Amino acid sequence: TVRHLTRDDDLTPAEQAEVLALAAQLKAGRHTAAAPTPLRAANGTQRTVAVLFDKPSTRTRLSFAVGVTELGGQPLVIDGAASQLGRGESVEDTTRVLDRQVAAIVWRTSGQERMDAMAAVSRVPVVNALTDSFHPCQVLADLQTVLERRPQLAGLTLSYLGDGANNMAHSYLLGGALAGMHVRIGSPEAFQPDPAVLTRAGQIAKETGGSVQWTADPAAAADGADVLATDAWVSMGQESEHAARTGPFVPYAVDEPALTRAADDAVVLHCLPAYRGKEIAASVIDGPQSAVWDEAENRLHAQKALLLWLLERSG
Ligand code: CP
Ligand code: NVA
Repeated sequence: TVRHLTRDDDLTPAEQAEVLALAAQLKAGRHTAAAPTPLRAANGTQRTVAVLFDKPSTRTRLSFAVGVTELGGQPLVIDGAASQLGRGESVEDTTRVLDRQVAAIVWRTSGQERMDAMAAVSRVPVVNALTDSFHPCQVLADLQTVLERRPQLAGLTLSYLGDGANNMAHSYLLGGALAGMHVRIGSPEAFQPDPAVLTRAGQIAKETGGSVQWTADPAAAADGADVLATDAWVSMGQESEHAARTGPFVPYAVDEPALTRAADDAVVLHCLPAYRGKEIAASVIDGPQSAVWDEAENRLHAQKALLLWLLERSG
């Protein structure tokens, strides 16, 4: 049966660990003769991966295009608005056309229900390249970045400050719980995680020895954190809410006082793009504890691992 990554918990804890180990292996063996090329067919032709964007992107577009090429295939990057999808062709019909020609479909869109609808009919792996609800590829790269700096993820405290209701907060909850981490979300009351996601992450954490917690107290959230993460206060599609999305978040900025509350050697993450002086201080993102450039690079390695793993499992 075909495997997808529509949200972080499409992988079991053991499967997530496999993908992360593979990501490290691919990074170490990049450009060597042993590097796998699963997208090159037996006769030498290249298989195509469709990469569709209904929202802007720099890192995701880059890393999937480079990654698919390095796996021996060819990326076809499609601007959703310039496709029939943008004129109202159904997700299901679009998928049925794509899946007969490509090896996998990578999609960035708004509604999670659209991603789920694609996965429900696709005969090739579907990868969520960000929805309003989740950003699972990013969190795989983030976990790889932490693992490069710590012997294991289980038992570490991952604190996220900012918009607790956005895709990154939700993916940290699920992805961090899968890894056995203690995930803390610090956000204003009005921007709390989706209760269903918090509950699901709590169930996973029970299995893995991790935990999940939401708090409105930013100091309590950052206290002793091994990993300190944040994200933009205004996500794509929320531009009209700009005014309402500044004031309430100011106490949740990842600034020098927040960094001081975290563990001495805390790793700072930000999925980027970053807004210096808003959700993160310039001195923090440009400082010695920031891992954001490795994090951005690891999108490439983590997604190559994910594609390889999904293709293998989908046989
Ligand atoms: N972090 C991330 O997904 O960046 P892009 O929006 O540039 O793809
Ligand atoms: N939460 C942000 C992440 C960008 C990669 C957004 O959805 O715009």
